Amino acid sequence: MAHYLVTGGAGFIGSNFVHQLVRETDHSVTVLDKLTYAGNRASLDGLPAERVELVVGDICDAALVDKLTADADVVVHFAAESHNDNSLNDPSPFIDTNLVGTFTLLEAARKHDKRYHHISTDEVYGDLELDDPERFHETTPYNPSSPYSSTKAGSDLLVRAWVRSFGVKATISNCSNNYGPRQHVEKFIPRQITNLIDGVHPKLYGAGLNVRDWIHVDDHNSAVRRIIEAGTIGETYLIGADGEKNNKEVVELILRLMGESPDAYEHVNDRPGHDLRYAIDSTKLRTELGWQPQYRDFESGLAATIDWYRANEDWWRPMKEATEAKYAKTGQ
Ligand code: NAD
Ligand code: TYD
Repeated sequence: MAHYLVTGGAGFIGSNFVHQLVRETDHSVTVLDKLTYAGNRASLDGLPAERVELVVGDICDAALVDKLTADADVVVHFAAESHNDNSLNDPSPFIDTNLVGTFTLLEAARKHDKRYHHISTDEVYGDLELDDPERFHETTPYNPSSPYSSTKAGSDLLVRAWVRSFGVKATISNCSNNYGPRQHVEKFIPRQITNLIDGVHPKLYGAGLNVRDWIHVDDHNSAVRRIIEAGTIGETYLIGADGEKNNKEVVELILRLMGESPDAYEHVNDRPGHDLRYAIDSTKLRTELGWQPQYRDFESGLAATIDWYRANEDWWRPMKEATEAKYAKTGQ
């Protein structure tokens, strides 16, 4: 039995990680989360108080991070400013949280010699052409496009340097786009589902031909757990489930699953610098660590996600209006 410090555990992927860890192991957890606009206490509802504690605080607070790291066996770092569109409107919190926050955690992991796992994204590699036969792999050069992806890339490089120069016992994972329950309604899939619940047409950026490689959040988290258990210190692992789809296909599927005509969407302004395609080759994770995704059928995973948003309007309703007001300012 181990004690985990999970940063960003009140966000989308981190909260699903905590639920999975509590469901499938005996470990206990301290969540460190600032509860920004993206954090939600309700995402931790239903977890046993004797095993999960929420500390509301900032990963840039060195004294707090030092104390919580000293008490933990494993640090799993999910906390981030995570949305590309926000990073284009105001990059400043991305610099603080993604770069300074990661630095603060690495210094604590170094001082207390703790196992550290760093959560990152495939967006650090930039994008691929639609017809490129290559996918991203662990040695693809970094080439990030946005303030979000460049700060995530910078944070990954800090981890690599802290491993090499200071011997920090760290691993890194770079995952593709996640879907599933408890994702903020600013993100593509929940935005369209909740728009349709409200009788509003889904919004496609540009022509809708950009490709994302979708993975269910529980598959991302099972891979992270496998890397923590069996990964080699200093190594990077790419996490993906062969889920490439263009945005138009995803919107058409959501419309069909929600009983609407598949062409009942509208085109809105494109994102500046919009990455065209992401695609992950996860051979290393599968062959070296024996990991496999469990959600192999995107349509049924998406249907279950739609059911979750229909059943949990109390969870997302408070954030919907402010999110759409933000998008209205950029014509999206
Ligand atoms: P999210 O925005 O849903 O959650 C982020 C959480 O971090 C929130 O609870 C927020 O309150 C917290 N947080 C933000 N700044 C903080 C700070 N300074 N101190 C403490 N807590 C802070 O994000 P997510 O989608 O769950 O992403 C989690 C991680 O996974 C991020 O590192 C992201 O880069 C990475 N990732 C996300 C995806 C995806 O598809 N969403 C894919 C690959 C990797
Ligand atoms: P998003 O969920 O923001 O993830 P990321 O930018 O990290 O890939 O967006 C996923 C894709 O969907 C991306 O190509 C942008 C597009 N998109 C839309 O077409 N409409 C929307 O309303 C949003 C939020 C995103």
